[in-house]
Amino acid sequence: MGTVRLFLLLVLVMVATTRGDRYHPEKNAQNSQQLQRNPDAFNTAERTPEFWKNSAKAGIETRLKDIRNDKLARNVIMFLGDGMSIPTLMAARTLKGQRQNRTGEETELFFETFPSVGLSKTYCLDKQIPDSACTATAYLAGIKNNYETVGVDGRVQRGDCLASADKSTHLDSIAAWALDDGRDAGIVTTTRVTHASPSGTYARSAHRDWESDANVTQAGFTTDVCPDIAMQLITTSPGNKFKVILGGGRREFIPNTFTDEEGRTGHREDGRNLIEEWKNYKTSRGVSNEYVWNRSQLMSLRNSPPEYLLGLFKSSHLPYNLQADKATDPTLAELTEVAINSLSRNEKGYFLFVEGGRTDHAHHDNWAQMALDETLEFDLAIEKAVEMVGDDTLIVVTADHAHVMAINGYTKRGGDILGPSDDLGGDNVPYMTLSYTNGPGARPHVDGNRVDVTKEDFMDLEWRSHADVFLEWETHGGDDVAVMAWGPHHHLFTGVYEQSHIPFRMAYAACIGPGLHADACSSASLLHPLSLLYAIVLAALYHTAQW
Ligand SMILES: *[C@@H]1O[C@H](CO)[C@@H](O)[C@H](O)[C@H]1NC(C)=O
Ligand SMILES: *[C@@H]1O[C@H](CO)[C@@H](O)[C@H](O)[C@H]1NC(C)=O
Ligand SMILES: *[C@@H]1O[C@H](CO)[C@@H](O)[C@H](O)[C@H]1NC(C)=O
Ligand SMILES: [Zn+2]
Repeated sequence: MGTVRLFLLLVLVMVATTRGDRYHPEKNAQNSQQLQRNPDAFNTAERTPEFWKNSAKAGIETRLKDIRNDKLARNVIMFLGDGMSIPTLMAARTLKGQRQNRTGEETELFFETFPSVGLSKTYCLDKQIPDSACTATAYLAGIKNNYETVGVDGRVQRGDCLASADKSTHLDSIAAWALDDGRDAGIVTTTRVTHASPSGTYARSAHRDWESDANVTQAGFTTDVCPDIAMQLITTSPGNKFKVILGGGRREFIPNTFTDEEGRTGHREDGRNLIEEWKNYKTSRGVSNEYVWNRSQLMSLRNSPPEYLLGLFKSSHLPYNLQADKATDPTLAELTEVAINSLSRNEKGYFLFVEGGRTDHAHHDNWAQMALDETLEFDLAIEKAVEMVGDDTLIVVTADHAHVMAINGYTKRGGDILGPSDDLGGDNVPYMTLSYTNGPGARPHVDGNRVDVTKEDFMDLEWRSHADVFLEWETHGGDDVAVMAWGPHHHLFTGVYEQSHIPFRMAYAACIGPGLHADACSSASLLHPLSLLYAIVLAALYHTAQW
């Protein structure tokens, strides 16, 4: 029998055993029946062509209205969803809808309604698939550099302390550009404030791991030559000028002989208490300041924060929203609200960086449910910000890099996004709609057979989704990530471009930084209309006084 005949026979066998065509089989797993949502109850209107025509018409009308915005940005808020890949967006919006008892796929995240969307290419200088430090340097300082380095240019290799001691390798972030222009700056994160993403606003380090002096020493260097990231935040510009610093990571700021408010010891070996140093420095300059470590303290100064606010709410990262103690742990939306209340007192404007940092961590653990829930929390923080700011604020939402979670199988409409796909493997064993190409969720085969993970308790928060290649931690992905923009010059953010273009585009709209500026920057006053009024009144008074 020739190979052609063998091939035809194989095709015939496949066609005979599955319905549908070869690439789109119509076989159904039995055990997913109980998870089915009944589409009839939700989506009757969708069955008429009018529904889709009206939906398309509304889409065009919105698009025409939003196509350009040539205003200038007094304020810029950058929202960074760490590891928020494009599949994460689809899965999170579906979960959002399903939590409201809808089929889910048709739901929109709040920030998905933003008028402009683009794609950013996330590779860094020496890696096709990047980490959060080199990407932070790209989207905050506008330069691509090496894996796991932050705030230094491409001449510095990872861990090369001496190379990074050369100040000509140091970069300024858009937070520094804003401060140079007399605006304010601040950072908010659910991770340690010394972690890779937020550190991109203020640190220059040959290694993202050098969060306290202990880590610099362990690597064989001294903090005289390579100051640790916590020390840079508190003692050097631009970090020491930030009006708000809210997140986790208390341990990087206090000595290892010192126990914090929650009974955890610090990491510092140099005996310094940088929280005390921060307070003393502000007090010596006669400015109001407050250090807070829990939610009730934060909420008590929510509407009238001191001039400088440092909030470190956990020894390490803030807990996942689904595991948080709602009484003591602030939400990302609450942190964002306080930060905006603080920064909006500067009439010239501000730059605020807000990170939803734990989507990344949950993906690394193959905890899909937790990753999606963190994305929904991030979405709520963005909604809060839009509620609070005016049309002089540019909001840019993006991710630093992707992850390797896939949405796979021919799951039926309304199928539980956290549940089984409606497909069977070639081995007749079902699989999940969400799975990962690698990570700690990989299961060894039993008696040569793949395990049926759909029989496990997959609604458990720490249930690991199935992965193919076993790794202690799931890896990042190299795919592009989405950029969504709202407000002045949002239209600049369409297209497919280098991640390092992002801060220059934000700065263009805000008339700050060393790059190009919008034409209107040279003529426009970004001052509050009221200050213009004050100026006129003052000029008139002065004029009157002359006479
Ligand atoms: C969804 O349905 C469940 C079960 O009927 C109900 O308990 C829950 O309140 C509903 N949730 C919403 C948001 O309607
Ligand atoms: C940094 O140092 C602390 C204290 O010794 C240690 O617990 C931590 O694991 C170190 N971090 C890294 C990334 O090595
Ligand atoms: C929050 O901190 C304040 C000041 O240290 C303390 O009095 C209060 O008990 C703390 N609240 C909680 C819930 O721990
Ligand atoms: Zn990561």
